[in-house]
Amino acid sequence: MNKVDKLTVLYHGRRVGQMALAQNRIAAFEYDKDWLSDGFSISPFSLPLEKKVFMPKFDPFEGLFGVFADSLPDGWGRLLVDRLLRKKNMDPAAVGVLTRLAIVGKSGMGALTYEPVLGFADVQEELSYDVIARECQKLLQEEQTDELDFLFAKGGSSGGARPKILTSIEETPWIIKFPSTYDRKNIGEQEYRYALCAKKCGIDMSDVKLFPSGICSGYFGTKRFDYKDGVKGGQRIHMVSVSGLLETSHRIPNLDYDVLMKLTLKLTRDMEECKKLFRLMCFNVFAHNRDDHSKNFSFIYDEAEKRWMLSPAYDLTYSESIGGEHATTIHGEGKSPGMSDILEVAKMIGLNAKWASAEGEKIRYIVNLDLKEYLMK
Ligand SMILES: Nc1ncnc2c1ncn2[C@@H]1O[C@H](COP(=O)(O)OP(=O)(O)OP(=O)(O)O)[C@@H](O)[C@H]1O
Ligand SMILES: [Mg+2]
Repeated sequence: MNKVDKLTVLYHGRRVGQMALAQNRIAAFEYDKDWLSDGFSISPFSLPLEKKVFMPKFDPFEGLFGVFADSLPDGWGRLLVDRLLRKKNMDPAAVGVLTRLAIVGKSGMGALTYEPVLGFADVQEELSYDVIARECQKLLQEEQTDELDFLFAKGGSSGGARPKILTSIEETPWIIKFPSTYDRKNIGEQEYRYALCAKKCGIDMSDVKLFPSGICSGYFGTKRFDYKDGVKGGQRIHMVSVSGLLETSHRIPNLDYDVLMKLTLKLTRDMEECKKLFRLMCFNVFAHNRDDHSKNFSFIYDEAEKRWMLSPAYDLTYSESIGGEHATTIHGEGKSPGMSDILEVAKMIGLNAKWASAEGEKIRYIVNLDLKEYLMK
């Protein structure tokens, strides 16, 4: 396989810019001339729309800017890519990030695509969800599966740690998640119930579904919000995670909701977006979703309106994080945050205190009612 040291970045087929390996270890980036005149900044803090060569630091994304690191697969997808490389007698450690982006090609999350594309494995077969779940377990536990090509084709570009596939249901792109080895068997049902409850709390979420199974209580699926109207072949929507925007690893718990609020206001210039984040924070606190790391928040760019918005919420489950504390602290409190910490965050960003208190109490009430069985443990 050829080593890639230069890549073109595209958005809806238009050239955004070029990346090239510099100093043999970092990927310098430059916007295209045409993009500079009528495009938008793909990551406003580190890549403002300016004519210059941008040089990333090596850490934390192995010499990539965060917005491009977002296009790379995470835990599960990376495992699949590395297994496939080994199957082809290649050393994963020797495959650099630009080559990995070329493997992603057009199949990543969000709207950015990369050329050249390194086609890797294409499959036509379909497998049932129960078979997929079984093969994922085999790969995780026994380190082998006969369906590696299938799993890679379906999930090799996905983000997140858990096994998942990117698939189409009646021409609409969905993500379907499968249990990891450390998950309870009924994690799919739990994520589904969490999503329904979040919606009831007024949190913006994409459509969700519990797909039937013969071996567990179902698989959680969510319609992709990075496609306009959820239609495949329709326009893809640019998105970037907080991790990507702030050039910080999601494995390091260095965020606070105070920072997230300021970031949201700075990027969207809209207090309504801060209200959306406020609801999500309340939900995460009361529903014990402590894995609220910087890749579990994203922003999407509306090109027609030329504005950034908080993306719909995702990945809401009962979870612990490092040391059992929130990955994102609530006005400094990670271990046992409560309403007073929540209200401090609201005050800091300038949300109306009465509104915040009523909204917080409403969310606490709904969560305690609907998710009782998970929270009693
Ligand atoms: N409905 C959706 N539409 C578009 N993108 C989504 C959607 N849901 C999740 N994503 C993207 O997919 C990634 C992985 O999803 P998710 O966070 O649910 O997986 P996970 O494996 O449980 O993650 P984690 O590693 O945080 O436990 C997210 O970081 C986000 O970028
Ligand atoms: Mg996640």
